[in-house]
Amino acid sequence: MSMNVSFIGLGVMGYPMAGHLANAGHTVTVYNRTTAKAEQWAQQYSGEVALTPALAAKGADIVFMCVGNDDDLRSVVYGENGVLTGMADGTILVDHTTTSAEVAREVSAKAALQNIAFIDAPVSGGQAGAENGVLTVMAGGDAAVFAKVQPVMAAFSRFSQLLGEVGSGQLCKMVNQICIAGVVQGLAEGLHFAKQAGLDGEKVIETIAKGAAGSWQMENRHKTMLAGEYEFGFAVDWMRKDLGIALDEAKNNGATLPMTATVDQYYADVQALGGGRYDTSSLLARIEALHKN
Ligand SMILES: NC(=O)c1ccc[n+]([C@@H]2O[C@H](COP(=O)([O-])OP(=O)(O)OC[C@H]3O[C@@H](n4cnc5c(N)ncnc54)[C@H](OP(=O)(O)O)[C@@H]3O)[C@@H](O)[C@H]2O)c1
Repeated sequence: MSMNVSFIGLGVMGYPMAGHLANAGHTVTVYNRTTAKAEQWAQQYSGEVALTPALAAKGADIVFMCVGNDDDLRSVVYGENGVLTGMADGTILVDHTTTSAEVAREVSAKAALQNIAFIDAPVSGGQAGAENGVLTVMAGGDAAVFAKVQPVMAAFSRFSQLLGEVGSGQLCKMVNQICIAGVVQGLAEGLHFAKQAGLDGEKVIETIAKGAAGSWQMENRHKTMLAGEYEFGFAVDWMRKDLGIALDEAKNNGATLPMTATVDQYYADVQALGGGRYDTSSLLARIEALHKN
């Protein structure tokens, strides 16, 4: 069923996600802080550009958002021209930004005062997942509301799951990032060891990728790691935000995350090397930089 939807935040992720909604036949209105990007989007896809989040949200059944961090989310939701000033009673607000669980609960409570339902719905699958419409969505919120948005999110996802009440999607995303941190550091050390041992890194991966050591990171990142290419993908700055959120949450729930805390510091080293916008696989660049010194 075609719906009136809005999309706030046309970054690496939001731009193609909004595009898939338009291609699926929904009536889409977009807002982006940098208007030129929204205008470019409207030339590529069928849809309208709005000049504020509130104007974009007017008349929408569902408003989707994908901005940077907790404060960015607060500004597009509650700011002077935030989406809550434009949304109608009985509509739905969905957030795909990776944020703290706390801000998800805060936004949900404010939205509820206007009888607007909220779903936190961070995603995994990266830039390629967004472009190919095959993201994984981890959601938190009311089951009946989730049932309404799930078929719409299917335009850009291949799997979505409700994990529990509001905030549960963000908690699941924290688990995702904790798992990735260890896997990428292991892969970086493995490739470094292979080189030191005089092995052909490509052949090593071809051999072990289908066995017990295989992973998405191994399949999708080993070639660029071997080539020393990091100017793409999921930025280290974003990963530090995400690991910081997970480490803060661990203080609340008592979880012990020694490896996550260590890899977070390794990413701080990558930032110090000037790699804040590098892909997270740049942990190998850190090892190689240490090795040279
Ligand atoms: N990239 C990935 O592989 C990936 C994967 C999974 C999850 N995520 C998460 O998805 C979110 C977006 O990531 P991304 O890679 O798409 O980031 P990005 O390319 O940096 O895009 C961020 C978007 O948010 C907008 N924005 C940021 N702060 C804003 C503010 N205060 N007010 C209004 N708009 C604001 C930006 O507008 P401008 O264009 O004006 O800057 C841009 O449209 C992040 O939470 C990230 O952690 C990313």
